[in-house]
This record gives sequence, structure tokens and C-alpha cells, in this order.
Amino acid sequence: MIAISSDHAGFDLKTEIIEFLDRKGYQSKDFGTCDKNSVDYPDFGLAVAEAVASGECESGIIVCGTGIGISIAANKVPGIRAALCTNSFMAKMARQHNDANILALGARVTGSGLALDIVDTWLQTEFLGGKHKIRIDKISSIENKYHK
Ligand code: RB5
Repeated sequence: MIAISSDHAGFDLKTEIIEFLDRKGYQSKDFGTCDKNSVDYPDFGLAVAEAVASGECESGIIVCGTGIGISIAANKVPGIRAALCTNSFMAKMARQHNDANILALGARVTGSGLALDIVDTWLQTEFLGGKHKIRIDKISSIENKYHK
């Protein structure tokens, strides 16, 4: 199950991504927002981050205007590695090297054709493990140092 959310700026792209996931046979759970009325992106980053961190959903996709604010918010939740990607190479690396469990997109930055290719790449790419796992573990150590 893929958790997905956006603020008002990301609403249209989120809707396209949900339809894309559906066509590709992925199940998704929509954590809002549900229209283009102005909302606060941290609320929606948090909802998806908590769904992923708790294990309710395996991964997540979050969208705001730039992808910056919502990814900053999601990354405050321990266990979350949200990667803001503006191209498909970044999406591939975010999975292979960083084991990103949330993909963040900026609807005012990235056109929908490219955004869907980024989503597709991110979904199809596996974590490489090995030396990259050691580095992920170091990120977890930073979390443990500050989240007691
Ligand atoms: C909303 O206007 C905008 O600030 C938000 O979507 C996002 O870009 C924040 O980082």
C-alpha cells in the first residue's frame, strides 16, 4: 500500500499520480488534501510519514508546490527518509543509495509527464544495500541521538 498526500498546490498532480498508480496496479491510500482550498503542508507530510513509519503503508508519495516544505515536515518523523526528486536519475539514486521510503515532488516545479516517470522509476528501483546500508544506519544513529 502506498500512502499519498498533498497540499492544495499539489492536489492536481496528486490526483494524476493516484490514477497512474491505479493503472499500474498499485494500491494507494489518499491522506488528503481533498480539494484546492488552502491548507498547511506539514499536516499532510505528517499523515503520510506516520503511515509509513508505523508500517501501515510500505512507502509514500507527498506533493506540495515545490516539494520542499512537505519533505522537510515528513523527515521530522523518525524512520522516514523522504527524498525530493526533480528528475528520474534522482529517483533511481534515492532508492538505490538512500532507500528513500517517501518520494516528494513539487507540482509547481515538475511537469506531470516527468513527475509520473519519476514515480515509475522510484517504484521500480530497489535498494542496493551493502555500503549504502552502513550509511543509512548512520542516519538512524543521528535520529537516535536526538529522539530519545
Ligand atoms: C503553498 O503556497 C506552498 O508554500 C507549498 O505548497 C510548498 O511549496 C511549500 O514548501
